[in-house]
Amino acid sequence: MKVLVIGGGGREHAIAKKLNDSPLVTHVFAIPGHDAMAHVAEVHHEIAESDHDGILHFVQEYEIAWVVIGPEQPLTEGLADQLREAGVKVFGPNKAAAQIEGSKSFAKRLMAKYDIPTADYREIDNKDEALSYVESCELPVVLKKDGLAAGKGVIIAETRESAKEAVETLYPEQQSKVVFEQFLQGEEFSVMTFVNGDYAVPFDTIAQDHKRAFDNDEGPNTGGMGAYCPVPHIGQDVLEATNTQIAQPIAQAMKKEGYDFFGLLYIGAILTDEGPKVIEFNARFGDPEAQVLLTRMESDLMAHILQLEACEPINMVWKEEAVVGVMLASKGYPNSYEKGYKVTGFEEDIDHYFISGLKREGTDYVNAGGRVILAIGEGQDIKNAQQKAYERVAKIKSDHLFYRQDIANKALK
Ligand code: AMP
Ligand code: GLY
Repeated sequence: MKVLVIGGGGREHAIAKKLNDSPLVTHVFAIPGHDAMAHVAEVHHEIAESDHDGILHFVQEYEIAWVVIGPEQPLTEGLADQLREAGVKVFGPNKAAAQIEGSKSFAKRLMAKYDIPTADYREIDNKDEALSYVESCELPVVLKKDGLAAGKGVIIAETRESAKEAVETLYPEQQSKVVFEQFLQGEEFSVMTFVNGDYAVPFDTIAQDHKRAFDNDEGPNTGGMGAYCPVPHIGQDVLEATNTQIAQPIAQAMKKEGYDFFGLLYIGAILTDEGPKVIEFNARFGDPEAQVLLTRMESDLMAHILQLEACEPINMVWKEEAVVGVMLASKGYPNSYEKGYKVTGFEEDIDHYFISGLKREGTDYVNAGGRVILAIGEGQDIKNAQQKAYERVAKIKSDHLFYRQDIANKALK
């Protein structure tokens, strides 16, 4: 069958590669994709990710059997709805269900109503009220803007002064929707979960992202600077608690409230003294979690999508190895950065890199995004995989990229 992947980042590179390996799939297309994924997909740049009519037309013309939507934007803008209405099979939730990611307020209300463990919160839609709230609230306090923010709409304020500044930033005018959350202490981890209505099957391997820009979890929040799996120091008991206390109840809650989620639910959790609590939900694979998880997945992703559609058992099989991915990003990211600098060193060994933000210019590749390229290492344990990943980082030649030196160190303590 023919499959179309929507999106053009490293996550979509990994999804396209994994689908291309499936015996069930004859041809993988990507819209808009990118130049460096041409080894695993037929790339159609000429159609934009936001051109929903163009995508539907393409799907009909090329007789695509399944569309897999990678990023959050087209999901929250209703691409899945439009395709499904035309009879197309889609892996990715409709617009209403994608609110679980698109609206912090929606997600928090649902969790409160169904008693799903998460940080205590309060929603304040008026700046004056927000200013008076931060005069006396517990510190640190976490402020989250409602709506998509690519991992950058969250401010953790440690002092009253910075909390007030955060209010000024998040309320450009008197009215604005902001969630104020209790600060949770603990280690973060990510659990991808296949969901079809109230049928939920979490991946039985955890991944861990590194959200901050710099070593030792310092600097601003980013989309993710590296990831690894499995996470040996976060045990099976935590995965089980995440399943019974979070994955199953949230799927049931969405179904009960009339939101029919079909696709991948990303549970971003934090392991507190009271057990796992939800930091965020996403309505799609994590990036860069997808790159390491799908590298480690031995079984067939396309087969799993079909099993999910039929609500059949999904038995994921994992390679007996660890996978570490280190992100090289443009200097300046997540703030402003310059584009157009040459990047070399990955082409010969493209099976060990996932490309997020590179563009072909003549015969060269140049950086074209904040996050640029993820170097992958596989090994018998995390230490080995980490070493290989950094060897591959060293092969990338560019004087305009930076990366963290401590990806996966938490697993080595
Ligand atoms: P989010 O976009 O909600 O995932 O938040 C981005 C990052 O901010 C998370 O990955 C955490 O590192 C941090 N964060 C968000 N909410 C909290 C919280 N309630 N307590 C502690 N850290 C948080
Ligand atoms: N890596 C975090 C995310 O995809 O949201």
